[in-house]
Amino acid sequence: MDNLMEEILIPQAELLKRIEELAKDIAQEYQDKNPLLVCVLKGGMPFMADLMKQMDILLEIDFMDVSSYGDAFESSGEVKIIKDLSVPAKGRHILFVEDIVDTGRTLSYLYKVLKSRQAASIKTVSLLDKPSRRKKDFQADWIGFEIPDKFVVGYGLDYKGQLRNYPNIAVLKEEVYS
Ligand code: XMP
Ligand code: MG
Repeated sequence: MDNLMEEILIPQAELLKRIEELAKDIAQEYQDKNPLLVCVLKGGMPFMADLMKQMDILLEIDFMDVSSYGDAFESSGEVKIIKDLSVPAKGRHILFVEDIVDTGRTLSYLYKVLKSRQAASIKTVSLLDKPSRRKKDFQADWIGFEIPDKFVVGYGLDYKGQLRNYPNIAVLKEEVYS
C-alpha cells in the first residue's frame, strides 16, 4: 500500500509511543472507576485495541457505530446510531475512543445521547484532531496528534472502506481519488 501514499504523516512507531503516554494519563484518571471505553466504529478500532492494552486498570469495553450520510471526505450534519451500546450507560464513566475529530458533529451528537441516558461522566480520547475544520464547538479531553487540514488514511481511517489496515497515518496520492 506504500505506493498509494503521497506522504506518511505519522509512522506506526510514533503512534504507539504516543498511545502509551495517553494510556498512562487516562488510566490515572479512571483508577477505581471501572470506566466503559466506547469505541466509535469502525475507525476507532485499532486505536482502542492498542490503548486499552496499555491501561493497567479494571475497565470494560463496548462499541457504537454511527452513520452520517456524508461523502468519503466529510460527515454530514445528520448523525444516526446504527449500532448501539450493549449495556446501559446510566451511572457509568464513559470514555469515547475515536480516530479523528473533524467537524465535531459525530461526538457532539454522541454526547447528547449519552447525557440523556444519565452517564456519570463522558470524556473523549481521539487519536487525531483537525481543529481547523470544526463546525461544532467540541474539544476532546485527550488528543494524540493535531494534524493539518488533509484527508488521511491508515490505522483505522479509510478511503471508501479500504486502507484501515495500513499501519501508518498517511496522505493519499491525488491520483487515487481520480
Ligand atoms: P466529524 O463528525 O468530527 O467526524 O466530522 C469525524 C469522522 O469523519 C471522518 N473523517 C475522516 N476519515 N480521513 C478519514 O478517513 C480523514 O482525514 C477524515 N476526516 C474526517 C471519519 O469517519 C471520522 O470518524
Ligand atoms: Mg470515526
